[in-house]
Amino acid sequence: MNFKKKRVLVTGGAGYIGAHVCQSLQPTQCDVAIIDNLSTGFESNIQNGELHPIDLNEWDSINQFIAEYKPDAVIHFAGSIVVPESVKNPLKYYQNNTANTLNLIRSCISNNVKNFLFSSTAAVYGIPDTGICTESDHLKPINPYGRSKLMTEMMLEDIASSSNLNYVALRYFNVAGAHESKQMGQRMPDATHLIKIIAQVLTKKRKEMAIFGFDYPTPDGTCIRDYIHVCDLAHAHVLALNYLLDGGKSAVFNCGYSKGFSVQEVVNAAKKQFGDFNILHGERRDGDPPQLIANADQIKAILGWQPKYNNLDLIIQSAVEFEKTI
Ligand SMILES: NC(=O)c1ccc[n+]([C@@H]2O[C@H](COP(=O)([O-])OP(=O)(O)OC[C@H]3O[C@@H](n4cnc5c(N)ncnc54)[C@H](O)[C@@H]3O)[C@@H](O)[C@H]2O)c1
Repeated sequence: MNFKKKRVLVTGGAGYIGAHVCQSLQPTQCDVAIIDNLSTGFESNIQNGELHPIDLNEWDSINQFIAEYKPDAVIHFAGSIVVPESVKNPLKYYQNNTANTLNLIRSCISNNVKNFLFSSTAAVYGIPDTGICTESDHLKPINPYGRSKLMTEMMLEDIASSSNLNYVALRYFNVAGAHESKQMGQRMPDATHLIKIIAQVLTKKRKEMAIFGFDYPTPDGTCIRDYIHVCDLAHAHVLALNYLLDGGKSAVFNCGYSKGFSVQEVVNAAKKQFGDFNILHGERRDGDPPQLIANADQIKAILGWQPKYNNLDLIIQSAVEFEKTI
């Protein structure tokens, strides 16, 4: 599919992942419009697309924007993403992730937008029996963040089956790293992502970091996650958009490498590359499953996705290189 001249509305395009995806869309020459309230996003992340500083809860502004812009597709990243915060303040998550998304979809339906690409999460799986997640698994999220995202997936499924909207939900595993240009990345200083925190320690922005829980049923007792480089994830979005614009039917895909590393292994890899740093031993946190690894067969088979940055050392290095610039 030639994207040239297609109009793509990206919500949350000033954020970490959204900015990488907008940048990946540049070679397609589609027109990119970004809606972002800059609550956790940064104008400096934007390398492609025009920013419209609108909050998703402003129904009139959103609906007017969509009616005028007439997007061929919407890519929806905007949302709140911190699991512990969602436990303390679930209303914020159901409002921003579920209710605001409902309004966005409502506007898409009333303005005849046909394609919707949604940022979902491995958190919809909860605690998977085998630790390896397949799209058809039973979904039982264990925190409000995961539930707020699962509700959106459910809304999309129901609305798509009663309208001419097609959607793809991409369930991201642990996204990390940064583009080699170092112009986009995780800029939020209080981010909770492991590799971001390691990068902050290595650039002396934090004195130390903690590992939460050494008594999980994993070989070294720390949690195992599937870390995906943000540029591979961005490419998955370009493929998914292509799929939708080509008339592909609604689908859900895991985005991960099908390989897990324990928290201790990630820390060890960072120390090997950059030198020692101080680790505190913390208690388990609520809502941390022992192991989350993607089965990524579907996205490879249907979208032809092939990762290029599937290398933990490279992911850590790119995160540290970006951290040095901010
Ligand atoms: N980072 C991860 O590891 C990860 C994993 C799974 C899923 N996700 C999902 O990916 C998406 C993007 O995550 P991210 O890491 O880039 O987060 P981010 O916080 O960097 O980006 C979110 C963007 O949305 C904007 N935003 C939030 N609420 C808004 C609102 N009401 N109106 C307008 N703009 C709003 C923020 O300003 C920000 O630019 C989220 O939906 C998140 O749930 C992220």
